Amino acid sequence: MRTARFSFAVVTLSDKGSLGLREDTSGPYLIDCLKKEGYQLADYEIMADKHDGIVAKLLELVESGVDLIVTTGGTGPAPTDVTPEATREVIERETPGISEAMRAASLLKTPHAMLSRGCSGIRGTSLIINLPGSLKAARENIEVVLPALPHALDKIN
Ligand code: MTE
Repeated sequence: MRTARFSFAVVTLSDKGSLGLREDTSGPYLIDCLKKEGYQLADYEIMADKHDGIVAKLLELVESGVDLIVTTGGTGPAPTDVTPEATREVIERETPGISEAMRAASLLKTPHAMLSRGCSGIRGTSLIINLPGSLKAARENIEVVLPALPHALDKIN
């Protein structure tokens, strides 16, 4: 498979999840989905919605050479939703088309799609993509970008 040379990590951002108070269903779904596409799992972590912790984790994954980093959660308008701000601190070049495509396709499913502030971009040879947090939203968003990911990763590497 063309995707087999690419590694990926899933980072779930959820205060309750990080305390074991809520089961993470989106993270395992994304892992399963990306594995089925042929990508190699490098890391999976459930973390609290804390800006500095997210920045540190994303940098660690970039430095360890993970090709595709997918976050889920923390993209909404609540004061605790800080994933896009943390991601912007890490990326060197934004890939707005990826996030715009997800929002556009999602708007056909729910008007709440416009509430996701998720961003995406490149640092070094890693592509970082923010997805919303619910299982439904994570599934509907990752499906949009899957067809473009192999070409994107080929170009970045
Ligand atoms: N996108 C899709 N495709 N489907 C959804 O159900 N939910 C929205 C939005 N994007 C949704 C979606 C909702 S309700 C919110 S609040 C935002 O994503 C942000 O979600 P997050 O804070 O869990 O990241």
